[in-house]
Amino acid sequence: MRAVTLAHEDDFEGWRDAARSLALLGTPASEISWQVGDGVADLFGAGAAAPPPADGPAFSVPRPFVDLARSVICHNDPERFSLLYALLLRIREQPRAMEDAADPLVQRLQRMAKEVRRDMHKMHAFVRFREVEAEGTVRYVAWFEPEHHIVRSNAGFFVRRFASMNWSILTPELSIHWDGETLTESPAAVRADAPDGDPVEETWKTYYSSIFNPARLKVKAMTKEMPKKYWKNMPETALVGELIQGAQAREARMVETSRGQIGDNALAAWEAVRAEAMGCTRCHLYKCGTQTVFGEGPLDARIMFVGEQPGDQEDLAGRPFVGPAGQLFDRALADAGVNRVSTYVTNAVKHFKFERRGKRRIHSKPEGPEIEACRWWIEQERILIRPPITVALGATAARSLFGKAVTIGSMRGRAHAVPDGGEAWVTVHPSFLLRVRDNREQEYARFVEDLAAIGERAKALA
Ligand code: URA
Repeated sequence: MRAVTLAHEDDFEGWRDAARSLALLGTPASEISWQVGDGVADLFGAGAAAPPPADGPAFSVPRPFVDLARSVICHNDPERFSLLYALLLRIREQPRAMEDAADPLVQRLQRMAKEVRRDMHKMHAFVRFREVEAEGTVRYVAWFEPEHHIVRSNAGFFVRRFASMNWSILTPELSIHWDGETLTESPAAVRADAPDGDPVEETWKTYYSSIFNPARLKVKAMTKEMPKKYWKNMPETALVGELIQGAQAREARMVETSRGQIGDNALAAWEAVRAEAMGCTRCHLYKCGTQTVFGEGPLDARIMFVGEQPGDQEDLAGRPFVGPAGQLFDRALADAGVNRVSTYVTNAVKHFKFERRGKRRIHSKPEGPEIEACRWWIEQERILIRPPITVALGATAARSLFGKAVTIGSMRGRAHAVPDGGEAWVTVHPSFLLRVRDNREQEYARFVEDLAAIGERAKALA
């Protein structure tokens, strides 16, 4: 038996080096005992035979295997090292072994990788920082209990998202800290090490009660998105029972609620929804794009424009309509006398869906289930903003708004009632004007006319 001691639970490099050497020696999976030490790797533990020379024969594996292994290593199943090693041996014999989707080992490892990815996304969405002031500096501290060994792999996400903050995430396995420049680790923490309750919590609570829509209460869907095990660290969930109980009374009150009543809390609520959307895993598109591209604009906007989905440039910038279609849209708005800055601009689908062709990322149209999954977010935006006028730019936006496929030609140029209040207008998507070959000028003029009519209508409703 060979003993391999990895430095830590998610020591992918240690596993990879040992697995490569042992596979070259032809060591069967049953003869290796994988262990995890306390920070020091001992790849071919005491008493074990020496590893093969580093200049041994080359040995490469397909990229999907490396990606799978990186995820699976973070799983909490103690068998993961040896399961991966068994697949590695098989791949050496049959390089396409991973493509056999019916193979029980491949299936098990894929399932484990999926569980890890899901846990990582839950961490993105459910970490809640509490503000702590010590020696004149502010630090944001969060307590989180992941199911798998994902904290190190997930650190980059929090560094990018909260690059300018000082923060710490404490977990039962290890803690990570960011000071604006350097990421450091410290040992495991306990719940009591993290502060309990502060003004940041109030923001989350405010958000949650602001966006909670009793008319749409679906407890099952809610607990699927926000599993109960995370509730104890999420201040807003303290309100859930109360909100559900009071749902009927609130629903009746909401019918009378007029625009703007969310009032002072609107910004905090919108920011919190946006933060939540950043960790969205409602459909598979979160794996595609660089980031969620949320809507932007004043929260008391009288017009909300809804596009299809972010394009290549929007995906990188994290803002809607900044690429070529956005520039054309800006020009048309200016020609129509509508100030974009006073409007709220968003998309029906919040992640960029594309196909890769060489280095290029080519836009790919979102499908029904993706539009449906993303409707949650646009509904949250509409609850918060309550725009008197919502404009669907193109068929995808119209489908999202009306909940069914509609034709632009039959709906263009007049107001339509929408179930959650206000009126909807439908026009073409600006990218149609970039593509169209015949009558481009006339099509552009008609688009400007639509926008001008919408601008006038918004003034009339004011
Ligand atoms: N097209 C859209 O529908 N939305 C954008 O944000 C950019 C291009």
